Amino acid sequence: MDPMSAFPKVDSAVARRVLEMVRGCTFDDFILAPRRSVLERRDPAVIDLSCRLSRRLTLKRPIVSANMDTVTRAPMAIVQAEEGGIGIVDRGFRAGEIEPQVREVEIVKRTQHGVITDPYSVSPTATLDEAVSTMARSRVGTLVVLDENRRLQGLLTERDVRFVDRKGTHVADRMTPLASLVVHRGPLDLEAAERLMVERKIKKLPLVDDGGVLTGLITARDLLRRRRMPFATRDERGRLRVGAAIGATGDYLERASELVRAGVDVIVIDIAHGHSIVMERAIAQFRKRFGDVEMIAGNVATAEGARFLLERGADGIKVGIGPGGGCTTRMTTSFGVPQVQALVECRMAVADSGAGVIADGGIKRHGAIAQALLFGGDCTMLGSAFAGTTEAPGEVVQKSVLLPEQQKSVKVPFKVLRGMASLQAIRDRLDVEDADKVEIDALGAEGMEISVPARGSARPIVRDMIKHLCSSVSYGGASSLAELRRMFWADPEAFLIKQSPSGRRESYERTI
Ligand code: XMP
Repeated sequence: MDPMSAFPKVDSAVARRVLEMVRGCTFDDFILAPRRSVLERRDPAVIDLSCRLSRRLTLKRPIVSANMDTVTRAPMAIVQAEEGGIGIVDRGFRAGEIEPQVREVEIVKRTQHGVITDPYSVSPTATLDEAVSTMARSRVGTLVVLDENRRLQGLLTERDVRFVDRKGTHVADRMTPLASLVVHRGPLDLEAAERLMVERKIKKLPLVDDGGVLTGLITARDLLRRRRMPFATRDERGRLRVGAAIGATGDYLERASELVRAGVDVIVIDIAHGHSIVMERAIAQFRKRFGDVEMIAGNVATAEGARFLLERGADGIKVGIGPGGGCTTRMTTSFGVPQVQALVECRMAVADSGAGVIADGGIKRHGAIAQALLFGGDCTMLGSAFAGTTEAPGEVVQKSVLLPEQQKSVKVPFKVLRGMASLQAIRDRLDVEDADKVEIDALGAEGMEISVPARGSARPIVRDMIKHLCSSVSYGGASSLAELRRMFWADPEAFLIKQSPSGRRESYERTI
């Protein structure tokens, strides 16, 4: 693991002092004192913000989109991974409905590649109709043509089938045959592939082994995307990374097994109260069945809770009981821990074990990201911040909003954000047709449904967050996130200002 991405070692006496300061507090209770800046420019392309997500996974940007059914499905996960973070696909599909969640993961894994090891293929003896329907189904414009032993025979593109009388025509009649293709035998790194493609002026480069069997396909489009997105979170094969959530009961093991098969990079065992016997059993079963598959567990908000998950083998700990925007746990149960206290406690517990701390929930302004990352989060998870965006699932609904000054109402587009423990989300997850009405009514809701204005793509929002985080690094007198963290924990009192109620109003409340 790159040392830049690791949280610095925190001296336990210093941590105890900070814990005293932050007991009962959350982000808005603090403001950070500015230090002499050492940066000429706050350039996100230069300032290192890399961080840990979990034991073996790192991110170049410390942003994770929450596993909520109104936040993360494939489109959100793709944007997050392209921008250097990661999305966790929610499990808000009905019990037993595993395939729709798996499909979301597959879409992300197929979006960008280095080498495509399993490109869509067609047989030379197939009809053009069959080839066209494979193209339509897979939404790819080029098929590799393989014989029954997976030996490369040619390439078939959309152009080869356009304006052609398909009746009685076979793939072999229209494909570009092997003899006319540029093909590379043996493995090839991406830089060499790029050189070859420029030299031979080709857009597709198939790779084969000594027997002519296809081993992969490299496309100019994927190489271009790699260039344009240098911070993207990718796996060893160049595909975007994605996580997916499962529960701790019911179909969770079967769900995990299908998600792992689809190439998911990390499984998040997510329940409202992760410090529980239900979680203990789930982790034990998970480890027994899936060995060392990367796994994050949560949520917890105390040192004891974090140690509990760590000792049972979690690679990452999701921290946050009740801070979330769509969450009512604290109101309905009076249990929870203010998020800054929770982060410091959990950081102390996780220490240098190598596991990641994900600061989950309660980030309402961009500046709180820097605080979450200083107080103990390796990275941050956000839900409401991405609600209402184009990539968030859900329909746009037009609502009438009264403009009191003009004495008229206008139609404004909204999308819904709902807590995963809201009655509406729970109802959708259960098969309501079969569920006992009494059973549904007996469920205590710990979340709510709110309308948020529809507001364009999540991509510029992530980019703004990153720019603002770079500004925080600069205000703190550091040149990278890692350095800011080291400086903060070397002398936390030099940074931390606990605010009076009027100080807080001056800092974070604006009425005009
Ligand atoms: P933000 O503040 O970014 O928080 O919207 C996202 C996190 O909120 C949590 N979450 C819930 N917590 N009841 C809860 O107690 C709920 O219904 C609920 N839904 C989401 C979750 O941890 C998410 O990542």
